Amino acid sequence: MKPTRYLPLFVLAIATSLGAAELPHLQKQGTATQLIVDGQPFLMRGGELDNSSGEPAYLRRSWPKLKALNLNTVVAPVYWHVIEPTEGKYDFSTVDGLVNDARANGIRLVLLWFGSWKNSMSCYAPDWVKRDVARFPRSVSADGTPMEIMSPFSPANRDADVRVFTALMSHLRDTDSARTVVMVQVENEIGMIPDARDHSSEADRLFAGSVPAVLMDHLTKHTTELAPELRATWQTAGLKTKGTWTEVFGSGAAAEEIFMAWHFALYTQAVTAAGKAQLALPMYTNAALIRPGYQPGQYPSAGPLPHLLDVWRAGAPSLDFLAPDIYFSGKFAEWCKLYTRGGNPLFIPETLRSPDASVNVLYAFGAHDAIGFSPYAIEAISEPGESLLTKSYDLIAQLTPLLASLQGKGLTAGFLQESLESKQPQQVRFGGWTINATFERASGAALADGLSIAVGTENTMMSVTGGASRPAITLPSGGLAISVGEDEFIFAGTGLVLTFAAKEAAVQTGILSVEEGRFVDGKWEHIRWLNGDQTHQGRHVRLESGRFTLQRVKLYRY
Ligand code: DGJ
Repeated sequence: MKPTRYLPLFVLAIATSLGAAELPHLQKQGTATQLIVDGQPFLMRGGELDNSSGEPAYLRRSWPKLKALNLNTVVAPVYWHVIEPTEGKYDFSTVDGLVNDARANGIRLVLLWFGSWKNSMSCYAPDWVKRDVARFPRSVSADGTPMEIMSPFSPANRDADVRVFTALMSHLRDTDSARTVVMVQVENEIGMIPDARDHSSEADRLFAGSVPAVLMDHLTKHTTELAPELRATWQTAGLKTKGTWTEVFGSGAAAEEIFMAWHFALYTQAVTAAGKAQLALPMYTNAALIRPGYQPGQYPSAGPLPHLLDVWRAGAPSLDFLAPDIYFSGKFAEWCKLYTRGGNPLFIPETLRSPDASVNVLYAFGAHDAIGFSPYAIEAISEPGESLLTKSYDLIAQLTPLLASLQGKGLTAGFLQESLESKQPQQVRFGGWTINATFERASGAALADGLSIAVGTENTMMSVTGGASRPAITLPSGGLAISVGEDEFIFAGTGLVLTFAAKEAAVQTGILSVEEGRFVDGKWEHIRWLNGDQTHQGRHVRLESGRFTLQRVKLYRY
C-alpha cells in the first residue's frame, strides 16, 4: 500500500469531457492528504449505518434525520449475498436505491464492501458460496475445526470476490455519473479469531515455506521506518533477510499473525486492484483495534493494525490508506496517532456514537488533518436537533473552506481532554506564540431540557434525554485552533480555557480582542464581542462547556 495514490490528470480530463462528474480522488497538500470531491477538498462529516440498515426501503425514513445531523456523507454497507444471490447474476437494485436516495438528499456515500470478510467472519457470502465448502474453503483452526472464515489461501475464494467486486465497481462507473459514491472500503475488519492463523493444508504448506522476497525486500528497504513492534519482532529473531516465517519472525504467535496479514493483504490487493480497474475511487480497509495486553488469536489478528501497517503496505499497494475503528473511550488521540504512522492519512470510518464524538471530530481535523470521521449506527440518534454531534458538525461545516486551505501546513492544532483525571494543560506552538489549553466540563445538571445524547459502549448504545430525569453526564471538552495570521487565531469547540504566552521571555501577552462569530459561505460574520466576565477581564479566552462556539482572537505584546 502506498500512502496515497493520485489519479492521473488525463483520466480526470477524460471523465469530465464525457460529461461525468470528476472522479473523487486523493491529493497531497503539504503533509496532508485531502479527498477531492467536485474539485474541492471534502472534509467528511460522516456517519456509518448499522449493519442491517443499508436497504433503501428500510433506510428511507432515516434520511431527514441524517440531514438534520449535518452529515455530508453516509457510510453504507453493500452486501455480497444481496447483490449476487445466484452466481454470476447481479442485482444492483439496493445499490441503485442507496445512491439515488443519497443524491436526492445531497449526501455523499462511502460504500462498505461486505464481501469475503465482515468482522473476521464470512457471514455476507452468498448461499452458493456458504454451502459449497469444497469449492470455497473455510479456514481451519489448530484442532481441525472449520471456521466460518473464508480461507485467504484459496484462489477460488479470491476470484469469486474479485468477480463480484469488479461487477459492482463497473456498475457504479456506468450508473453513478454524479459520483455520489466518493470512496469504497474493501471488506470489513479483516482478522483471525480465535486462532491467530489458518491451519488448512495450504496455509500449513505456505507457513513452512520461505517469507516471499517481495515482503523481505520491503522490510529491508524500510528498516528504519518500520513500526517499532514489527521491527522488534524481526530483530529478536535476528534480522534475517531470508528464511521461513518462524526463522525470520520467531516461533511465537507474532510470526503467525504476520504470515496471515501478508496473505489477507494479497487477497485484498487482488480485489481492490480489480475494482479500481473499473472505477478508480479511493479505497481503504479498516481494522478492529486491540485491547491492551491481548495476544494474537485473542483479538481479530492480522488485520490492518498499527504494528502490521508495513506488511499491509507491501502486500496491498492499491489500498490508499488503512483506517481504525476507534471504539475505546479515553484512547482516541492515541489511536489517531498510531494511524498516522508513515504518512497514513487519517479516516475514521467507525467510532463510538457517544457525547465524546462531538469533540473527537474537532480533534481529528485540528490535530491530524483528517479526511473524515464517522460514528457508528448513526441513524439510531433519536433527536438530531439536540445532539452534540450536530453542533460540532455544524462548526466543521462552517470551517471547511478555511481548514481545507490550511491542511498540511502546520497551522492547525487539536485539544482533547479524554479523562477527567488528566488535568494537565495541553500546549501548542504557532510561530511566536504558545497556547495553553485547560478543560472545564459542565455536569449533566447543566444540560438543557430535552437535550438528547447517545451514551454507551460499542454494543449497548442508547439515547438519554435531559429534563425531569436528567442524567448525571459530564459534558465533553475539546476543540481545535487555527492560526489565521501572525497574532490571530480562530478557536472552535467547547469546554476550553485558553491562555497565551509570547516566545520572548521578557514580553507580556495581552488579548487585543475576542469576537464570537460564524462563517457563512466561508466569510466571517460577527455575533458579539466577548470581553469583561467572558474573558476574565482579558486574562483568558473561554469556550463555554455545553456550547459549541467559534471565537476569533487577536493577541498583542506589551
Ligand atoms: C465493528 C464493525 O466493523 C461494524 O460493522 C459493527 O459490527 C460494529 N463493530 C458494532 O458492533
